[in-house]
Amino acid sequence: MKCSCSKIVAAAALLGSVSAQTFRRLGACPTLGCVFPPDQADFLAGQYFDIRLEVHQPRNGSEFIGLPLDNDFTFTVAKKGEEAKPATEFFQLEEPKLEHWNFTWFEDLFARDANKPTLVNVAAKAYRRIAIYEPGEYTATLNYNNGSKTEATWLVRDLAEERKAKNIILFIGDGMTTSMISAGRLIAHEMINGKYQSTMAMDKFPVLGHQMTHSIDSFITDSANSAAALNTGHKTTVNSLNVYADSSRDPFDDPKIETLAEIFHRLTGGHIGIVSTAYIADATPAALVSHTRLRSQYGAIVDTYLNGVQNYTWTDVPVDVIFGGGAEQFYPPELGGDTYMDRNYYEEFAKADYQIIQNRTALLAASSEEKALGIFTTSNMAKWLDRNVYRENLNQSLSPTGDESPALDQPGLKEMTLKAIDILEHRSGDKGWFLMSEAASIDKMMHALDYDRALGELLELDDTVKATIKHLNSTNCLKETLILVTADHGHGFDVAGSVDTQYLTAQDGDRKKRDAVGTYEQSGESQYMNSGNLTYTDSNFPRNWDPRYTLFQGVTANPDRRENWSVRKDGPRVPAVELEEDSDDYYVNPEDGIGGIVINGTLPVGDSSGVHSLTDVPVYAMGPCQEMFGGTYNSIDIFYNMAACFGLGRGQAPEKL
Ligand SMILES: *[C@@H]1O[C@H](CO)[C@@H](O)[C@H](O)[C@H]1NC(C)=O
Ligand SMILES: *[C@@H]1O[C@H](CO)[C@@H](O)[C@H](O)[C@H]1NC(C)=O
Ligand SMILES: *[C@@H]1O[C@H](CO)[C@@H](O)[C@H](O)[C@H]1NC(C)=O
Ligand SMILES: *[C@@H]1O[C@H](CO)[C@@H](O)[C@H](O)[C@H]1NC(C)=O
Ligand SMILES: *[C@@H]1O[C@H](CO)[C@@H](O)[C@H](O)[C@H]1NC(C)=O
Ligand SMILES: *[C@@H]1O[C@H](CO)[C@@H](O)[C@H](O)[C@H]1NC(C)=O
Ligand SMILES: *[C@@H]1O[C@H](CO)[C@@H](O)[C@H](O)[C@H]1NC(C)=O
Ligand SMILES: *[C@@H]1O[C@H](CO)[C@@H](O)[C@H](O)[C@H]1NC(C)=O
Ligand SMILES: *[C@@H]1O[C@H](CO)[C@@H](O)[C@H](O)[C@H]1NC(C)=O
Ligand SMILES: *[C@@H]1O[C@H](CO)[C@@H](O)[C@H](O)[C@H]1NC(C)=O
Ligand SMILES: [Zn+2]
Repeated sequence: MKCSCSKIVAAAALLGSVSAQTFRRLGACPTLGCVFPPDQADFLAGQYFDIRLEVHQPRNGSEFIGLPLDNDFTFTVAKKGEEAKPATEFFQLEEPKLEHWNFTWFEDLFARDANKPTLVNVAAKAYRRIAIYEPGEYTATLNYNNGSKTEATWLVRDLAEERKAKNIILFIGDGMTTSMISAGRLIAHEMINGKYQSTMAMDKFPVLGHQMTHSIDSFITDSANSAAALNTGHKTTVNSLNVYADSSRDPFDDPKIETLAEIFHRLTGGHIGIVSTAYIADATPAALVSHTRLRSQYGAIVDTYLNGVQNYTWTDVPVDVIFGGGAEQFYPPELGGDTYMDRNYYEEFAKADYQIIQNRTALLAASSEEKALGIFTTSNMAKWLDRNVYRENLNQSLSPTGDESPALDQPGLKEMTLKAIDILEHRSGDKGWFLMSEAASIDKMMHALDYDRALGELLELDDTVKATIKHLNSTNCLKETLILVTADHGHGFDVAGSVDTQYLTAQDGDRKKRDAVGTYEQSGESQYMNSGNLTYTDSNFPRNWDPRYTLFQGVTANPDRRENWSVRKDGPRVPAVELEEDSDDYYVNPEDGIGGIVINGTLPVGDSSGVHSLTDVPVYAMGPCQEMFGGTYNSIDIFYNMAACFGLGRGQAPEKL
């Protein structure tokens, strides 16, 4: 049943033509009555969540209907086959207070160019921190505008109260796709007559699945929204961390959804660790415990690691281990920092009995018995290639202390992950732990079209996975630990042959230079395992990053760039620059890709780097519950499978104290 008022039906039909494409009035709300969680949402039994209801009154634009703003809307919830009850009765809550605000949005690019935003008035309510315990289908119904109705079907998944894994480690190769893994294997593992003499650690996992990464309201995701899907079992909107995005201005009042880390800690007392090679307030690490509509609220995100969600009754999760970059959210503004409430977060964590660690030497020497905050650089951590091969690139003013000296002694993902496991093992006892370890710069370097650095990060992830398995086996923890290696989304990267870089630079003219590309039989064999000037002896990485014959590699959506398919020895690549400051108009960086071919971009000219793509991404699983991860499924299923493996689906409310 839809609308009973014919005027509204006509308006609804009309809005279908503009709404929900390039710009959205509000994601997952095509009608004027919005229910969050929206239609098709799944829930873990007993998972806390908020409900947000909004009624929209567009004051102009294509959806204008001339009705007054509806302040008398009603909301009911019904279990399938049972009678609908007012939400206040269903959840035993008081009626929340009515809120009002307004917002504007552009209906399409023509409206944007003409600077004609549509104005929308909003009446809203929020029901906070509720849960549904009985599995099954539910219908949530918002009645508004004197006869209109928005219905949401919710599915509370089956219970899973038996715990099968003591620990879970979730490795995220940010932006990592199967084609990147193939390229990493090709440059780091020797092949004789078409047969690899060794393979990746990921290749040895017993179970492989595929996850679909799209958002709730757009088919390309970012890392905040996709991490939210993995951590809560709810897909949301780009830039949102564990909330559904409402239309209010406050980035912290959006309806929250409890995360795996929060549920696991609340129900079992299990311990949590977060490791990333990004700045630690970045989306993927933030998604374990943060709740905000704006991933860029870095200071508040760091505060959440220590104090839980600000100004709000939620579940507090003390995080035992936090290792990564992003010192600017820790040292105070006097040193150039950008912290929540201008505090010194090294001091805040130290007061809460965290060991404060700022370099690799101190990390290796750190106690495994105490909580640990390890921040090793300002901004993102140095890339594997710069830490291990082109070390002079570490000479930048990025010390984690904020004193502008260089951060020369940075650990890698492997050292951080192994130390995190030791600390979690010591501190969690019988309760177990959940650790997320992210190779963040696979994504960051793919954005920069720096394929070599991206593959270096991928190989470091694989090396970390290998060392983790060995370490867990040596402490007898392997059998009780579920290990997952997956990604949050892809980039349209692939390899289509090889490039003779000597021939390329020797030719004049872009058309002649293209002869340097060898396809099919002319692609030859990988040269990266031949020893050369850059001999690097770790067996899990290429021996030579700068061979004459390189990979003919690239991505499908780019800014303008010049490709010479050679390793960037002077540090991460910058493919496109503004020729005029603040012009928001990016052209080939004249200093990049010397001797190569100019390839004009296809992305909007304001984009300085590559973007995410649609591809499904792989899920490797080993350990208890591994069988749940085979096949092709939605990203949110990874959350439900992890929750089932931890036995977190609850059929009854926890006893009130
Ligand atoms: C929108 O809301 C703001 C803040 O509440 C208010 O100041 C403003 O007058 C409103 N704008 C319109 C056009 O109603
Ligand atoms: C809608 O109203 C606002 C506020 O009066 C105005 O700024 C805007 O240009 C109007 N938009 C359209 C599409 O008419
Ligand atoms: C609500 O709808 C009913 C039936 O369509 C109509 O009789 C009534 O006048 C409407 N009330 C308002 C406030 O628009
Ligand atoms: C929490 O409340 C304080 C005091 O009202 C305010 O200054 C701060 O911005 C709030 N923080 C968030 C994240 O909303
Ligand atoms: C590493 O950290 C320790 C402990 O804070 C400090 O004493 C030492 O000087 C640091 N080493 C470097 C190379 O910065
Ligand atoms: C580090 O960089 C600074 C300036 O950027 C330079 O003066 C110094 O010589 C460099 N040091 C080394 C060891 O390369
Ligand atoms: C774990 O260690 C045992 C004993 O050393 C060994 O036989 C086994 O292969 C190891 N398993 C893995 C997965 O490394
Ligand atoms: C090593 O590099 C130097 C210059 O960078 C070059 O002259 C020399 O031929 C190279 N040696 C080999 C074995 O490639
Ligand atoms: C490719 O371009 C980089 C600068 O981006 C340059 O350092 C390098 O020497 C070039 N490679 C070749 C083979 O010309
Ligand atoms: C790239 O675009 C520029 C204009 O921005 C144009 O002058 C040039 O011819 C284009 N080059 C190629 C190879 O298409
Ligand atoms: Zn990205």
